[in-house]
Amino acid sequence: MLKIGVLASGRGSNFQAMIDEGKADNLKVSIECLITDTPACYAIKRAEENGIPAFYINPDDYKTKDLYYHKIAYELKSSGVGLVLLAGFMRVVRKPLLDAYPMRIMNVHPSLLPAFRGLDAQKQALDFGVKVAGCTVHFVDEGVDTGPIIIQAAVSVIQGDNAESLSDRILKLEHKIYPYAVKLFSEGRLRVEGRTVVIKGGVDNNGFLTNPPV
Ligand code: GAR
Repeated sequence: MLKIGVLASGRGSNFQAMIDEGKADNLKVSIECLITDTPACYAIKRAEENGIPAFYINPDDYKTKDLYYHKIAYELKSSGVGLVLLAGFMRVVRKPLLDAYPMRIMNVHPSLLPAFRGLDAQKQALDFGVKVAGCTVHFVDEGVDTGPIIIQAAVSVIQGDNAESLSDRILKLEHKIYPYAVKLFSEGRLRVEGRTVVIKGGVDNNGFLTNPPV
């Protein structure tokens, strides 16, 4: 069974979605550990409630960012992790971890990439005046939210939306597409060709995808 390690900095609702899909037997993976850079984050509580080992690794304890990511890679490898999930991990992942897990680190981002990379993506989208927003699951490379896209889902922007209301609607989709991307990976259905992620057999119609149309 595919072993997963999750990196989170905050609330951890995407982490929870992964736990729930596992419990519902929709996802045949085992979540081996949570690693966080934030000591009192809610994600730790979720790990404890579900018997998942949680490690707080303090970036201030490491002389360089690279040493910090060496440590994280070491912990993940020690736990036998084969796929790393960033779930609201608010740091840019660096080379030592990328090299340890090439095209084996995923991230969920609350925009339709390549639009609105970085922080406060939903607010960026509203400020730009878009009519369609959404979320993306992608493999992580050395850039910020630049890696090959695995799956995306869209929501309409409703007149009068604010960052919170739009974020809530996008988050519901994140909780669907992120476990789905992990499922595809666990079934060996993802192949990266340059910037394109080819999905063996195409995507299933899960009712949340915009392509194929629902
Ligand atoms: C999610 O909306 C995720 O897409 C976003 O942070 C939130 C974390 O929520 N990530 C980023 O913006 C990364 N660039 P969660 O802690 O409840 O999963």
